[in-house]
Amino acid sequence: MPRRAAAPQAASPKAGASASHRVRIFDTTLRDGEQSPGCSMDRFQKVQMALQLEKLGVDIIEAGFPIASNDEFEAVRDVAKALKKPIVAGLSRSSRGDIDRCWDAVRHARRPRIHTFIATSDIHLKYKLRMTRQELLKEVAASVRHARKLCRDIEWSAEDATRSDWDFLAEAVKIAIGEGATTINLPDTVGYIVPSEFRRFWEHIFEKVPAFDDVIFSAHCHNDLGLAVANSLVAVESGVRQVECTVNGIGERAGNASLEEVVMALHTRKDALPFVTGVRTREIYPSSRLLTSMTGVPVQPNKAVVGKNAFAHEAGIHQHGVLSKAITYEIMTPKSVGRPSNSLVLGKHSGRAGLRSRYEQLGFKMTKEEVTSIYPRFTDLADKKKEVYDEDLIALLQEERAGQGDSSYHLEFLQVTSSTGTQPAATAMVRLREGETVHSEVGRGNGPVDAAVDAILRITGVKCRLTDFSVNSVTRGRDALAEANLMVEFGDGLQLAGHGASPDTVEAGAKAFLSAVNKHRLTQRLKKNGPPGRGKRKNGGRPKGI
Ligand code: KIV
Ligand code: ZN
Repeated sequence: MPRRAAAPQAASPKAGASASHRVRIFDTTLRDGEQSPGCSMDRFQKVQMALQLEKLGVDIIEAGFPIASNDEFEAVRDVAKALKKPIVAGLSRSSRGDIDRCWDAVRHARRPRIHTFIATSDIHLKYKLRMTRQELLKEVAASVRHARKLCRDIEWSAEDATRSDWDFLAEAVKIAIGEGATTINLPDTVGYIVPSEFRRFWEHIFEKVPAFDDVIFSAHCHNDLGLAVANSLVAVESGVRQVECTVNGIGERAGNASLEEVVMALHTRKDALPFVTGVRTREIYPSSRLLTSMTGVPVQPNKAVVGKNAFAHEAGIHQHGVLSKAITYEIMTPKSVGRPSNSLVLGKHSGRAGLRSRYEQLGFKMTKEEVTSIYPRFTDLADKKKEVYDEDLIALLQEERAGQGDSSYHLEFLQVTSSTGTQPAATAMVRLREGETVHSEVGRGNGPVDAAVDAILRITGVKCRLTDFSVNSVTRGRDALAEANLMVEFGDGLQLAGHGASPDTVEAGAKAFLSAVNKHRLTQRLKKNGPPGRGKRKNGGRPKGI
């Protein structure tokens, strides 16, 4: 349609974009998202994530539910103080106490918002609120009126809107607008509605509620039937100009509409969906990674846009197509969402072109002869392993360009002390052997592994960032063997995995980190020496195996 095209729906529309085509992105990763099992964040993590969301360019950040606890209150207040551009919202139920507490937390923001909600469906009225419809309408009026006395920017939500009586819902909406609500959010709280029905739902509401230029309508969809993104897009097509979503789609039960999917659908299919957002799409992947590393909750590999396999091509035909023209099998580029590159997943279906291209992506110049020589060993390995990783390729190349010597660091000694309530929380004494040379350093950090990593960084002088870290026990009992797996992003953009095992979890972590550092060192040396005939080679330049 969109019926509310005249409304000034955009906070700051992009140049050239019509205000009516601007869709606001309301991120609720820190509130609804945080409600998913295992996704809770402390206040420092919330601020860190909020700063990344600001960089991502979302319009509104819902920082939490201040009445929930003192920690939650402080987290919302910290986020409100830390952000410059986005609106910072806090959630509250309809009681005065909730709203006052919410205002106390968000009022520190440059652009504060109170987001107050109450359920409107008969199911909730009867079994949860134990209220009549008339009592509910009075509560809506009183809550919005009270909130509006405190703050100019008020969002009112009708929980379980889609299962409410649509005419009654429209009455409640009119009351909320009459009392000064500036955004009306109608959630599909239990992920029940289907797209065609959601279109009719919005048509019905817009039919019953007169148009107000300064009121924005919002959709908040849950994913119980896997329809959250589809429903959000239908809402936008119907005239809604705010979409509530979360990074990685985290949220209650099956989650909320995934921010990256909504944004990339609008971005990629401008022809079919002529709308714009203010999101810097290249910050999508970094945001997803940050959330995963903070919560430890992994993203499913086939998840659209941010999953490990979202840009991975294994079949030889696909690899060949993508290498000659990415558009053959890619509708958006990995770069556009901030991913390092598409990955040709190397396995037994891969050909020489795929192998050579992967080496080139890793920064290795290969001669045709080198590829021909390595290829049979690569296919042998691919037969044994399902997937051949970058580190396997580096090891194959090391054998190929043999004579590079062992330049690895070995962990000789590690001692850590840690305590609560001190700053820094942990210190680590580390001794590394590098050939005949022994290096020692003391590191400090937020925890024992962090301190050990700090000491290793001081010794090796490496510039890098730890992007993933997990420890699992591989045997049972108190003396179980711990296995640490981590991912390190180095200053030159290379991402390498590290693995380490030990009965001591800190030692396992330190070994894993060191293994990634050693791989990176090796890569540097291999690159420096280049293919046969280019650099200095100890064995006179004759690659082994030819
Ligand atoms: O799903 C929902 O209804 C909500 C509201 C509280 C906005 O999260
Ligand atoms: Zn929700």
